[in-house]
Amino acid sequence: MIEIKNLTVGFNGDTVLENISLVIPQNEITVIVGRSGCGKSVLMKTIERLFYPFSGKIFVDGIDIFSLKRKEMKEMRKRLAMLFQGSALLDSLSVFQNVALPLYEHTDLSEEKIFNKVTENLKLMGLEDVLDKMPAELSGGMKKRVALARAIILKPEYIIYDEPTTGLDPIIADEIIKLILKMRKAYNLTSIIVTHDLDCIRKIAGRVAMIHEKKIIFDGSYNEFKNSADIRVQSFMRFS
Ligand SMILES: Nc1ncnc2c1ncn2[C@@H]1O[C@H](COP(=O)(O)OP(=O)(O)O)[C@@H](O)[C@H]1O
Ligand SMILES: [Mg+2]
Repeated sequence: MIEIKNLTVGFNGDTVLENISLVIPQNEITVIVGRSGCGKSVLMKTIERLFYPFSGKIFVDGIDIFSLKRKEMKEMRKRLAMLFQGSALLDSLSVFQNVALPLYEHTDLSEEKIFNKVTENLKLMGLEDVLDKMPAELSGGMKKRVALARAIILKPEYIIYDEPTTGLDPIIADEIIKLILKMRKAYNLTSIIVTHDLDCIRKIAGRVAMIHEKKIIFDGSYNEFKNSADIRVQSFMRFS
């Protein structure tokens, strides 16, 4: 479980999120929605401790992540995978090297074991043929799948997907959503999905939390979200 408590985050004295609290329950999919620029990515990066908050705390399975030493946080990040908006593959490394990177960084597995793990993960994503390709040679959907293979290579407990379907055509987006659902099942992943893609929200239909003007203004099931009388939720549903 991830517990966000009274969190205020911002930059240069300005706040992006103010005093927000949210619980991400185990083994579920929580969808974080809100208009572009409302602070979704900032919240996710704060969970990964890439940003420090002005105030408030985040607990992962009861552990206050801002109290961890750097080395302890490095261990924690193995459990907290993140698929960045835009995939964030390393352009000078091949597909194989990109996916293998966390294994080289965090484990002392043999080359053979690394090769087997990487190919197994790429197979799961339907990508067994692109091992030696460079990221520039791949389509947007393939890049996402490579990034997905890399994100789960250390068998995390939690995974954050930041805008996994943004910029993809609807068919490819649907494939990515199916992979996200498959992954959750296969690895029992507690998943957090940041999106403003209504189709993605509808297909995943887990819990929904909405950020609006620095606050969490909705937190409930997808059905409650869909039927909410809150004008801000309705307007999001209509114009997204
Ligand atoms: N590293 C940063 N430094 C300063 N401001 C930032 C930084 N990252 C994000 N912001 C600001 O925080 C706000 C929320 O951004 P973001 O979380 O990326 O929005 P979104 O909901 O679209 O993901 C924006 O106003 C953005 O300019
Ligand atoms: Mg974002």
